[in-house]
Amino acid sequence: MKVTVVGAGAVGASCAEYIAIKDFASEVVLLDIKEGFAEGKAMDLMQTASLNGFDTKITGITNDYSVTANSDICVITSGIPRKPGMTREELIGINAGIVKSVSSSLIEHSPNTIIIVVSNPMDTMTYLVHKTTGLPKTRIIGMGGALDSARFKYRLAEALGAPISDVDGMVIGGHSDVGMVPLTRLATRNSVLVSEFLSEDRLNQVKEDTKVGGATLTKLLGTSAWYAPGAAVSGLVQAIACDQKKMFPCSALLEGEYGLNDICIGAPVILGKNGIEKIVEINLTDAEKEHMQTSAEGVRKTNGLLEL
Ligand code: 2OP
Repeated sequence: MKVTVVGAGAVGASCAEYIAIKDFASEVVLLDIKEGFAEGKAMDLMQTASLNGFDTKITGITNDYSVTANSDICVITSGIPRKPGMTREELIGINAGIVKSVSSSLIEHSPNTIIIVVSNPMDTMTYLVHKTTGLPKTRIIGMGGALDSARFKYRLAEALGAPISDVDGMVIGGHSDVGMVPLTRLATRNSVLVSEFLSEDRLNQVKEDTKVGGATLTKLLGTSAWYAPGAAVSGLVQAIACDQKKMFPCSALLEGEYGLNDICIGAPVILGKNGIEKIVEINLTDAEKEHMQTSAEGVRKTNGLLEL
């Protein structure tokens, strides 16, 4: 199993690290445009192999896509990150051009690859890959919901005073401060609905803290987060590489599901060796449906800025 990660910045390097530590891939290629940068990150990571006990070979390369040839999975993290006060949507001008050229170079050398898009604005970048590469929709996956759900579980555990392993929950909708739809109604603590433990006000607070999860970290760090994004990507990569048939909320091309068409937005999907093997439609309340529609309107507005 060969995995390529484009962009050796903080998110890309964390992806490579978590994938390697889980030791399911034979090779990870880390590619960056900055001369020597990916090579340095790869060497540093390889020097953790004996300490962390993994055999995955990490190769760093400056902009030579021939080294990525025949990758089973490619992750696109390239582009500029958010700065404090910026929305993900404001990154579109620069990132769209980068994601378009990166995805086309990847497919040239790995025509059968599955692509995972991390660059922001993520739902729109995933849609751009759909529109410009012609890859089947099962092989284009946007990473957002897996990260947002991890942040949701963190906030739920905090509110409950419970260990995270007790908590389950999911965030669907767009990967944006206003677009996320945290499904508090369905969240559980060890199979008991969290509404049994938390007031409506506290649950609303959890919801709001989750939605601004990325912005909160950007303010604290001065740039966008990397550990949880990297860990979320590694979870998706592992589900595909190990054919786990695991369910994650991911940005997927919807064709009628949730009443939406011609849009990539977060919905629960089953991930296995073929990429997105199924889009799961769950019953939503009228309020959740309305939130999903508003979220889609926001994503469409950003999609409208693409020059396709
Ligand atoms: C985040 O929410 C980078 O969009 C990513 O941290």
